[in-house]
Amino acid sequence: MIRVLFVCLGNICRSPMAEALFKDLVKREGLEDQIKIDSAGTGDWHVGEPPHEGTLKILEKYEIDATGLVGRQLTVDDFEAFDYIVAMDESNIDNLYRMLNKPKHPKVMRLLDLTDEPKDVPDPYYTGNFEETYELVTNGCQALLEKIKKERL
Ligand code: 4NP
Repeated sequence: MIRVLFVCLGNICRSPMAEALFKDLVKREGLEDQIKIDSAGTGDWHVGEPPHEGTLKILEKYEIDATGLVGRQLTVDDFEAFDYIVAMDESNIDNLYRMLNKPKHPKVMRLLDLTDEPKDVPDPYYTGNFEETYELVTNGCQALLEKIKKERL
């Protein structure tokens, strides 16, 4: 089993969107029995909550299943339990290294570093632009699946 964890700050906007999108992509390729997918936030403000309305609306618009998305906080155990820890932006990476008390970790990557346009996924909690998030996260998820196929499948 290959295990993928998406990480953002609050786990209500970007990383649950990535979780739902990547699950959809993996299912469409018939790989759902081989890849386990989850998401978490570095912050604890939204533990137990459903995704932000903006994320839910965009997933509904593009007919992506949003079942089972519940906010949770990243834990140190996640670094053992997952193979790919995929953060949305550089500040998420700073936060998770602080949590780990390490300067680097081989499983950690920034989502859009896997694409031709490496950059942060801007936070729609502040920008309000969930359409932009959807586009960027879709590109990143496609690139991530290609990487996993090359490395593990
Ligand atoms: P996310 O966005 O990291 O993409 O889930 C945020 C959601 C909530 C907060 C910040 C960012 N917040 O401060 O509550």
